[in-house]
Amino acid sequence: MTLHVASATAPVNIATLKYWGKRDKDLNLPTNSSISVTLSQDDLRTLTSVACGPELQEDKLWLNGKEESLGSERTQNCLKDLRDLRAKMEASDSSMPTMSQWKLHIVSENNFPTAAGLASSAAGFAALVVAITKVFQLKEDYSEISKIARKGSGSACRSLFGGYVAWEMGQSIDGSDSKAVPVSTKEDWPNMKAAVLVVSDVKKDTPSTSGMQLTVKTSDLFQERIKNVVPKRFEEMKKSIVEKDFATFADLTMKDSNSFHATCLDSYPPIFYMNDTSRKIIRLVHNINAFYNETIVAYTYDAGPNAVLYYLEENEEKLFAFIYKYFNKVSGWDTKYNASELQNFLKKFDAVEEKLNFQTDEDIYKGVSRVILTRVGDGPQSTDQCLINKETGLPN
Ligand code: PMV
Repeated sequence: MTLHVASATAPVNIATLKYWGKRDKDLNLPTNSSISVTLSQDDLRTLTSVACGPELQEDKLWLNGKEESLGSERTQNCLKDLRDLRAKMEASDSSMPTMSQWKLHIVSENNFPTAAGLASSAAGFAALVVAITKVFQLKEDYSEISKIARKGSGSACRSLFGGYVAWEMGQSIDGSDSKAVPVSTKEDWPNMKAAVLVVSDVKKDTPSTSGMQLTVKTSDLFQERIKNVVPKRFEEMKKSIVEKDFATFADLTMKDSNSFHATCLDSYPPIFYMNDTSRKIIRLVHNINAFYNETIVAYTYDAGPNAVLYYLEENEEKLFAFIYKYFNKVSGWDTKYNASELQNFLKKFDAVEEKLNFQTDEDIYKGVSRVILTRVGDGPQSTDQCLINKETGLPN
């Protein structure tokens, strides 16, 4: 078979200023701008390979080893936009193969278990559009491509860049100015780390799309959030990132997570994404910051109970004195630290214990299934690693 093949990886991003609310559901246009930190692909990434050729019979997708339907409107919108861009190139150069008319085989894999409950759709759509951009040899820059990823999943547009990323909501009704732009690179502020406390939960959340729709329709608080709270916070947070002002960045991050969850509670009927463990972790974070009399850690929660803690590398021992103490029975620590380093965190706790001025539920770890230790990372990457057999067009 004559196949053209390309592969790319894309990262997960976790918002510090939340996207919540659509002004256009089909185009995934948001009611507010948002900001996120891109996480390292060493720990969390999607790898996607695509094959394109005149002999392929239909578009097909395999996700984590299983064939899945490509029928969703969101995925179809992404494929259509990418094919339209390719068709434009072909129209201006008749020597180019007519790939825009050929079918695609797409094979995609995450390097983390879906069971972790981390939104993998951002990395997934970002990897998909980048891999197809490569096989089609499109020349558009990543801000332009981010508009296509946005149609797959809003937050996916921010996974087109590494470091610290803004999604500018834009004004136009066709979405042509609703795109991701870098705020700062990973190299500008490299010591940002993240610890994800994966909170076990049996029940399924309200999916983000229907949750947003309900909030937009029913919450009065939400109107205040999009008109007055977020626009100001967007500017302040960008400034804190550029100035590497962690305390301000962390305060804004925590307040914005709380503001987003407040609009969920203010929806009618209310939506609850956090559970008791999530709330205990919030309390613990505030107690840790108060204990050190300095903001060394921030929490943020998406549409689920998992806590993402942001902190700077230089404060890791101070933070882990507490979080390793309370969560050492949970798996994941040994991915980054050996036994003596972990022992050292316990010693740090022993050293501060007598000054302790707060109490934490000793059983708090029971609500957490694992910890993922990671840090700020790069944007999508090309890779030679290929998940598709170049002869057959099927998964390897
Ligand atoms: O992109 P979606 O539809 O998965 O929505 C993401 C919504 C939040 O994760 C809660 C916030 C955000 O900005 O990522």
